[in-house]
Parts: sequence; structure tokens; C-alpha cells
Amino acid sequence: MSVITLDDVSVVFHEGKRTIQAVNNVNLTVNQGEIFGIVGFSGAGKSTLVRTINLLERPTSGRVLLDGRDITQARGRELRDIRKRIGFIFQSFNLIGNVTVEENIIFALRAGGWPRAEWKQRVSELLALVGLESKASSYPSSLSGGQRQRVSIARALANKPEILLCDEATSALDLETAGEILDLLRRINHELGITIVFITHQLDVAKSIFDRVAVMEHGRIVEQGNTFDLFGDPQHPTTRALVERYLGVGLPAQLVPDLPAGDLIELRYKGDSALEPLISQVARTWNVSVNVLHANVEYFGTQAIGTLVVSVDGTDEARQNALRALQDNVFSYRELDRAALAAAAERDAERVVPVTQTPTNEGERR
Ligand SMILES: Nc1ncnc2c1ncn2[C@@H]1O[C@H](COP(=O)(O)OP(=O)(O)OP(=O)(O)O)[C@@H](O)[C@H]1O
Ligand SMILES: [Mg+2]
Repeated sequence: MSVITLDDVSVVFHEGKRTIQAVNNVNLTVNQGEIFGIVGFSGAGKSTLVRTINLLERPTSGRVLLDGRDITQARGRELRDIRKRIGFIFQSFNLIGNVTVEENIIFALRAGGWPRAEWKQRVSELLALVGLESKASSYPSSLSGGQRQRVSIARALANKPEILLCDEATSALDLETAGEILDLLRRINHELGITIVFITHQLDVAKSIFDRVAVMEHGRIVEQGNTFDLFGDPQHPTTRALVERYLGVGLPAQLVPDLPAGDLIELRYKGDSALEPLISQVARTWNVSVNVLHANVEYFGTQAIGTLVVSVDGTDEARQNALRALQDNVFSYRELDRAALAAAAERDAERVVPVTQTPTNEGERR
């Protein structure tokens, strides 16, 4: 069942004479109990879009529905009740600095109308849920980033919301701490049945936690679907750019001048198939030499996407046959431009040259 429906929602800002269409006719449904992700490059309109769900941002046009009910015009008491049903956490934690952890949470309980007599008990429950029982009387400044985000999660859950909106909730944290926060959010989703809408520009976050995902660009949703299908087989150039940036492999610049002779190819496969047998078979059948220059496997849930960069050398005819055989048997195949790689390596000898961002025979140029 859909808990959140955005029906043709647009948000337009005016800045002097400039008009900014931050959200452009977005249609979206989020189902009960799922973790729904929104990804996109900076400025795509992700935050603005998510803020329309709890009406922190009023749509300029279109409707926001909660459990099928139009809330777009909600004001006063109705708006307060809606906001109680929707928790919100941010990248920057937004804790009140000069009061304790306990008082930060009480702030939300007071706003939510909890009887004073129940505050202490509720604070203990919430801190236990996020694993911070011992920090009730600490001040935010004495906590680590991960602990602060735990407090803001506890505060967001204070009034037993049905929905939790997370805007780059892990982006300010190191990888390991981010992983712990994601584990906590997954548990909250699972055990409390809270629907989560999560914005991020980090695909490693996206792939580990989202059930479904929407890709935003220039205020529009350009592609959406089940996370593995979408990242495994991106169609829109923006999704492809995000995936390339994430899966994209690189070669150390100092290696580029000494790459083996022959054609340079990037191969990608999906699912259980592996490429080693194919490569040795192709090398044997067509009498070419194949060198693996880079290999990488990423898991989306339990499903694998592998990337291999190889060089294929031999006589013209043998090479052509071998390349065709590779092309016919992989999920994605791209010939890399040796001159472009060399030029990129020349520009900066210290760095890793991203092979996937150099022009290819597909004419992709990013
Ligand atoms: N209050 C505002 N007034 C004017 N313009 C705004 C306002 N809020 C956002 N914008 C503009 O709307 C566009 C979308 O911004 P938004 O913050 O939603 O993007 P985002 O996808 O969340 O980006 P980021 O990944 O950098 O957080 C941007 O061009 C931004 O400058
Ligand atoms: Mg944002």
C-alpha cells in the first residue's frame, strides 16, 4: 500500500528575477514499510522534494497525499499532527548544543504532547533503541558524529512516527560509522515497520539499504525502479553516470604508458556468471593473448556486478573474432581509447585514470 504519493509536484523558487524550478512535475509513490531512496547529483532537487513530504516546503503545484489523503493545504493543528507522523533526520544532526541528550529528546516529546510523567521512561526506551543508554546526561559536543546521529534518530522517533525522512543522514560520517547508522536504520525499518525515505549521493549507501530508488536530475525523476535492476542496467545517462562513477575502475597513471599492446576493453557481467572461463576460452579459440588489467566485483544485495578491464592482442582477424566473442557473451562491452587514457595519464601522473570516463567507441563523453 502506498503511504506517500506525490502527484505532479513542482516547487519553484524566485530569487530576484531568477526562477528556479527545484522540483519539476514529480510523480512518486512510496509503499508502506519500504526503504525508498532518492539519488542524484548536487542541486538535483532531492532535499526540496523530500521536504514537500512533511510540508517543510509547500509545493507550488501538485498534491502530496499521506495514506491517500490530500495534505497539501494542511495548516495549524492538522499540520502539527502530520509532522508528528513523519520524523526527519539531516546530515548535520541539528541537535541543540547547550542542552543534554535527554533534553534534546524531551524537546520533541514536549512538542508531541507527551505527559511529563512519561518523559523519563520514553527517553530511556529511545536511547536503548539507538544504543546510547549511558549518554542521557552528555552534551552533544562531547559525542562523536555517529553518536550525534543516533541522538537525532532517537529524537526523530520520539513521537512514534510512521515515516522517517533522512536527508544525507550518513554523508558526514566515516565509512564504518555510516555503516553502523545504516544498520540501525535497517533495524528500525524492520522491527518498527517504519517507512524510510532516504536521500543520498553515495551509491554504496544506496545499494546496501534501498528497496527501490528514484534518480533525480534538474528537478525531475529520470528513472526509478528496484535497486538492483536500476543500478545493474541503468538506462538514463544520469543513472549511468552515477553508476559509472561508483563502479568505474581506474588504472594508475604511471602504468598507462606500459599497458600491453592490443585493444583495451571494459567488460561487465551481472549475476552469477564469471568471466574467467570465457576469457580463457576466447584466448584459446582465437589464439589471442588476453591480459586482465583490472577486476572488480560489487554486490547489490546478494547480486553481483563485475567489471574487468582487459587487453586483447593478436593478428587483426584473430582480434576481431575474439572481440566479437567477448561482446556476444557479456552484459556490457566497451572499447577504451588508448590515446585518451594516455592523455589523461599525462595530465596528472600521480593519479588514477578512470577508464570509464575516457571517451569510448560508444562516443560517451562525460
Ligand atoms: N530556499 C531556496 N531558495 C532558492 N533556491 C533554492 C532554495 N532551496 C533550494 N534551492 C535551489 O533549488 C535547487 C535544488 O536544490 P536542493 O537543495 O533540493 O538540491 P539537492 O539535490 O538536495 O542538492 P545537494 O545534493 O547539494 O544537497 C538548487 O538549484 C538550489 O539552489
Ligand atoms: Mg540536499
